[in-house]
Amino acid sequence: MLDTPHPTPHAPTTDCFALARALSGVNFIGGRYVPAASGKTFPVVNPATGAEVATAAYGEAADVDAAVQDAARAQKEWAKMPARKRGALVHACAAILKEHQDELGHLIALETGKALRTESRVEAGVVADIFEFFGGLGSELKGESVPFAPNVLSVTVREPLGVVGAIIPWNVPMLLMALKVAPALVAGNTVVVKSAEEAPLAVMRICELMNRVLPPGCFNIISGFGPECGAPLVMHPKVRKVTFTGSVETGKIVAKAASEKLVPVTLELGGKSPMIVFADCDFEKTVAGALTSMRFTRQGQSCTAASRIYVERPIFDEFVSRMKAAVNGMVMGDPLDEKTDIGTIISQGQFEKVQGFIEEGRATPGATAHECSAMPSDPALKKGLFLRPVIFTGLDASSRLVREEIFGPVTVIQPFDDPEAVLAAANDSEYGLAASLWTNNLKVGLDLAHRLEAGLVQINQNLVVQANLSYGGVKSSGLGKEASLEAMLEHFTHKKTIMVNMA
Ligand code: NAI
Ligand code: MG
Repeated sequence: MLDTPHPTPHAPTTDCFALARALSGVNFIGGRYVPAASGKTFPVVNPATGAEVATAAYGEAADVDAAVQDAARAQKEWAKMPARKRGALVHACAAILKEHQDELGHLIALETGKALRTESRVEAGVVADIFEFFGGLGSELKGESVPFAPNVLSVTVREPLGVVGAIIPWNVPMLLMALKVAPALVAGNTVVVKSAEEAPLAVMRICELMNRVLPPGCFNIISGFGPECGAPLVMHPKVRKVTFTGSVETGKIVAKAASEKLVPVTLELGGKSPMIVFADCDFEKTVAGALTSMRFTRQGQSCTAASRIYVERPIFDEFVSRMKAAVNGMVMGDPLDEKTDIGTIISQGQFEKVQGFIEEGRATPGATAHECSAMPSDPALKKGLFLRPVIFTGLDASSRLVREEIFGPVTVIQPFDDPEAVLAAANDSEYGLAASLWTNNLKVGLDLAHRLEAGLVQINQNLVVQANLSYGGVKSSGLGKEASLEAMLEHFTHKKTIMVNMA
């Protein structure tokens, strides 16, 4: 239970502006809101207007230490609680999050610019689902009995690791946080989250909502920047597990720091996910599938975005023109407007990075940039970070747009002539997160599914991460898995062997 009066409303609210102000300037540590030890804050900006809507506490090493110490104290009692009871509490959190789905949708739309109807409210629903799923897994924290000798009982038991340090990005912050916090808690760990500097509010509200049910100190959250706040969290001696989602570059820094302490690390990093379309596909379904695969409603800010689309030559032209028409039909506008399909890019820096890719593509000889959809006309949005989706043709594997993660509404469509060639092209990447194949020839589809270098391959669909399916990349896309029972057991517990000699 919260032990202090808190500034945020108890009941769900969709007045996200007021809620953002109420959440200003605080971290959530040990069951209560506290400002940063230094008193410093940084602005939180609505990317649809450029207006400052809140401040966030500027967390640094002292705040990290306070949170980790509280989490370490809480962990001792939390781990003693029967696993099913922990699960029941996490399940109760899911119920509260469901009641606040619309509220969280509005808040995340405000701070990230993701459209409420197509993305933000959906994300909030998935978050509740993730806590509900893991809340039911308490009694699955089972060990084995090992046939050692007749008079020796030899068993393994699953034990929590201790305090988990979780670092999350801004693209789907609530969902990516839930994938870490839910299994970590159910397994008997306590957690300190470092939120992304661009999106600290909705995850803070989630932490507060869950602390209405969880004992204080089990789930703490600090807002702050990477080197000042993320790095001390990774390095803290009492953090016994690090889980990170973000860029490859930062993932390597995090893994290196964690290796100094020899603590396990899970990394969910970037992607350059291929979508492979065969001429025999269900054409209409596949065009629609390309829009969802590319995550255009999230402005392409997704690690699994289908940012390389390979289309078999006989249907190439028709596919490009139908896809253009479909993206043209998507409405760009105010993220909080129910009519909006596509909102804004998260930040000025990210906006410029994506524009740089687009300019480079345009300047490439032979390339065509098909700009789709239309800029919003509302003058209130004139400072918003709106970027028209771009479909490129005429680029090949020599282009940085085909090789690097853009993390924006930009995809490249290339023709192919045979399955072996497209397989080689798809696998010619530093990344290996996800891939999709669109064909009615399951013989070819399954063969390629087995040979694609990716953690997740889908045929004739391209869903986002699911709570009960193991998820994670190969190559530079990451280390370890998230979601699913398997990930909870392998990444948030260790196996202890106990032997009893009864002779
Ligand atoms: P980033 O990887 O730098 O940031 C992710 C998280 O790591 C943030 O919370 C950040 O504060 C933290 N961080 C940064 N430096 C750190 C350090 N030294 N120690 C500990 N934590 C640290 O990603 P950023 O700068 O927001 O975006 C850059 C690019 O990364 C994007 O353009 C995109 O290509 C990729 N990206 C991929 C994501 C994914 O889901 N795989 C998510 C976000 C970004
Ligand atoms: Mg960075």
